[in-house]
Amino acid sequence: MSVGIGRERQFEIYVAGARGSYPTVPVSVERLDAAARKRMSAEGYAYIAGGAGTEETMRENRAAFERWRIVPRMLRDCSTRDPSVDVLGTRLPSPFVLCPIGVLEMAHHDADVAVARAAAAEGIPFVFSNQASRPMEETAKAMGDAPRWFQLYWSTSNELVESLVSRAERCGCAAIVLTLDTTMLGWRIRDLDLASLPFLQGKGIAQYTSDPVFVEALHETLKEEIPATGRVTVAAIGTLLSQARAYPGRRIDAIRSGLARAAVRRFVETYSRPSLSWDDLAFLRERTKLPILLKGVLHEADALAAIEHGMNGIVVSNHGGRQVDGAIATMDALPGIVEAVAGRVPIVLDSGIRSGADIFRALALGASAVGLGRPYVWGLAAGGEEGVREVIRNFRADFDLTIGLAGVSVARDIGRDNVTRV
Ligand SMILES: Cc1cc2nc3c(=O)[nH]c(=O)nc-3n(C[C@H](O)[C@H](O)[C@H](O)COP(=O)(O)O)c2cc1C
Repeated sequence: MSVGIGRERQFEIYVAGARGSYPTVPVSVERLDAAARKRMSAEGYAYIAGGAGTEETMRENRAAFERWRIVPRMLRDCSTRDPSVDVLGTRLPSPFVLCPIGVLEMAHHDADVAVARAAAAEGIPFVFSNQASRPMEETAKAMGDAPRWFQLYWSTSNELVESLVSRAERCGCAAIVLTLDTTMLGWRIRDLDLASLPFLQGKGIAQYTSDPVFVEALHETLKEEIPATGRVTVAAIGTLLSQARAYPGRRIDAIRSGLARAAVRRFVETYSRPSLSWDDLAFLRERTKLPILLKGVLHEADALAAIEHGMNGIVVSNHGGRQVDGAIATMDALPGIVEAVAGRVPIVLDSGIRSGADIFRALALGASAVGLGRPYVWGLAAGGEEGVREVIRNFRADFDLTIGLAGVSVARDIGRDNVTRV
């Protein structure tokens, strides 16, 4: 009989310790963050760690979890446990997915591909970011048949939206996650102080430069390419080289043709559509049979509107506090949304998940699953593919032990009775 992933993982770590070897990737999220920071550039770390404004929402995301306490129950045979849940007809071995996170190359050279391999090995769905560092085809290939979703940003070109969605279908993505909260970038002070935006270096635009519709349109951009003005500085040359490095094919060709520079310019001009409104959703609904989840929902009326517009799921998220500083914490938004949705579609919650207990509390308030964000990126920076895998395993183990010790042997049975608000 299996002792379950929680106990297996503990034994693995303790037995290795008895032989003198210690986890290469720290188990503590704080130490993991510190280990990741050491391996990253100041700009890379700021981009990943930072939030909007004073980062109040980032702090509040954590505080809101801490206002809910688990109330363990005793003498309820938890020798075997089932931490799995069902989301959109798929059974997840543990109740979490890996959030879409852009520009993973800032954490590690293998970026999305390393995360894909780690997620696939653990059977945890990976949500490919629209701002990925690698084309979705390459990332999907690294996953075999393992579950994956695609996160979409709605650009100014509906043709591009359509192309990205059909590519995601061909890549075997089981759902489209449409992110609503980033029609513009939030006021991110850490990045502003370093005057650093990775996209201008050509980073995080691989889904675009690998897209036939985007590349076709690039040639139009090239025709109207504005000659570079101003002084030629070392930084400007560095930027040009970085853009060329990120562009597919030979670096020298990307510079000579002007394509690398034009790609960044076109991306900046077209990536977002602040005018997006509820009526636009029909376009997407008509173009794919895949389930569509709306990410960034924080108000129950928006959750209801999502259902009315034929959407199949909701991601309660404030983008890890990166968009609206002072925005409501996701754990504060969840109960109202759960009540309004009344079980009609699954609800995934992210922003601030840092432990098995957090996963437990989100499920207790009615989430079907959660999204793990920054911690897996710290794992990627600290240890590449293996680092991500360790982080996933640690979260799976922590959650498994938490349910068992709280007296719930089946994760699907976690409910409001298992927590109290303090
Ligand atoms: C560096 C970074 C990049 C992100 N990129 C994206 C993205 O491309 N698309 C998206 O929908 N969300 C993106 N997010 C938001 C995450 O999907 C998720 O909502 C957030 O990380 C959850 O907060 P947490 O990491 O603090 O738990 C990004 C978050 C971070 C930290």
